[in-house]
Amino acid sequence: MPSSTFTASAALLSLLATATAQSTVGFGPAFSLGPTQSWIREANTTLVLPKTPGLKDRLALWPGMGTSGGDLIQALAVSFSDPNANCGASEGQWCTWASTLQDEQLGGTEVPANAGDKLTMHYVYNDSTGEYDQTVYINGESVSTLSTSSGQAQGWGTAVECQDDACESTTVAAHRMSLPIKTDNPIFEINLDAEYLDTTIILNAEDNTFKDTLVLTEADSTEFSSSDGGKTWTVETINIHEHTYNV
Ligand SMILES: *[C@@H]1O[C@H](CO)[C@@H](O)[C@H](O)[C@H]1NC(C)=O
Ligand SMILES: *[C@@H]1O[C@H](CO)[C@@H](O)[C@H](O)[C@H]1NC(C)=O
Repeated sequence: MPSSTFTASAALLSLLATATAQSTVGFGPAFSLGPTQSWIREANTTLVLPKTPGLKDRLALWPGMGTSGGDLIQALAVSFSDPNANCGASEGQWCTWASTLQDEQLGGTEVPANAGDKLTMHYVYNDSTGEYDQTVYINGESVSTLSTSSGQAQGWGTAVECQDDACESTTVAAHRMSLPIKTDNPIFEINLDAEYLDTTIILNAEDNTFKDTLVLTEADSTEFSSSDGGKTWTVETINIHEHTYNV
């Protein structure tokens, strides 16, 4: 598996650290690339937000880049049990912000976003600072930024991340009636239908092996290809399928 899987796990643990100990967590569908033999200078994608899974803590959607510095650059869209307390959002809204996981979760301003909104998550390496500059746009308007010294990005991938400490309690209650026997194996079902549009990834140098690192997990996409010999890569549409968590 690509290194991004490993970094994603680290991200998950970190998010859990702020909740309670010994929770289980889950990753759902993914479009995952890397590591590249070069490094990623710039990445752009536009996430069309699906409906939230309801007032559950917490469900995160993010396109992330694992870096040589051990960071995870991951602008986030998160559905919380109390969206108002987190970013002033109402029920049915997401909170979104620019974020990097280092030893701690660093973040820019957190703002509400609606299902159907187009979140453009832009990451670009800044040669004068040696940092990655992140910007999150909602329907084209810049709402959150963050710059972090993170080394060089080696992979890029999307994630559906469930922190099921809270998800589980919420979900067991929601599903118990339809699960007559299996109380020791509750099923948490999230119907997420998300898509990422116009994804562009620009490498520092040509790497024609980059295409071979693509792993699709409960996701499909239009062709992932380069028109300039392996430096600039694009994929028009990434479809993230519905997913059922078993927790
Ligand atoms: C990425 O998106 C931002 C915001 O729309 C834009 O300024 C930038 O030029 C884009 N870069 C690429 C490589 O698509
Ligand atoms: C690089 O970062 C500096 C300092 O934040 C900023 O002034 C400059 O505009 C950035 N360069 C680019 C190309 O965005």
